[in-house]
Amino acid sequence: MERLQKVIANAGVTSRRKAEELIKQGKVKVNGEVITELGYKVDNNDVVMVMDEVIAQEKKEYYLLNKPRGYICAVSDDKGRKVVTELIDTNARIYPVGRLDYDTTGLLILTNDGELANKLQHPSKGISKTYMAKIRGHLTMSEYHSLKDGVMIDGTLVVPSRLKIKKHDEERNIDMVEITINVGLNHVVKKMFQAVNHDVIKLKRESIGKLSLGKLQTGEYRELSKQEIKDLLES
Ligand code: URA
Repeated sequence: MERLQKVIANAGVTSRRKAEELIKQGKVKVNGEVITELGYKVDNNDVVMVMDEVIAQEKKEYYLLNKPRGYICAVSDDKGRKVVTELIDTNARIYPVGRLDYDTTGLLILTNDGELANKLQHPSKGISKTYMAKIRGHLTMSEYHSLKDGVMIDGTLVVPSRLKIKKHDEERNIDMVEITINVGLNHVVKKMFQAVNHDVIKLKRESIGKLSLGKLQTGEYRELSKQEIKDLLES
């Protein structure tokens, strides 16, 4: 469900502010009925008319991207940095769901479906996200257990649902650690390892809920299937 003025603006008819004026002036109909309420919500199936012309609502699009390093999770950037939406070939006004850091790679969902985006980011949702972290040094057993028991990050106790040391490389002085968490706090994984005195050198998100990267290479993307969208909405 989306606000009427937003739907009109997204359809490219006019700006959101002008759309609000048209609504207030009684020039907008939803399913044949004049609507003058600004917050009125419509979905894809509603027929919206502006001055008796039916507007085409933007089709919902859903993408899964393997985000490369060096892109920010935004639709534009005033510092001129590259943004993830540049990587997707579409005219739809898609945006990233949640955030991966500039230097983090991996699974990112982009969509123009506000309902799905809100659902996935709602704190009560707790959809699981799995990351592979390359850390400097080695996790001792006591550090492992401290992490496993949970770490306070920005006032929230973050307890990983899974924590596994996948590789222990003595020569390079690194560990590869897989961690699954259910919260979406900023820099959460880096902060968790910092709490046990390890820097994350590389970070990749490997999955969100049932979705994983599969064969997608860095910078590649694909559309989500109907079933995958349904699973996310029901997750
Ligand atoms: N945690 C981080 O520290 N960075 C990310 O990009 C995602 C999760």
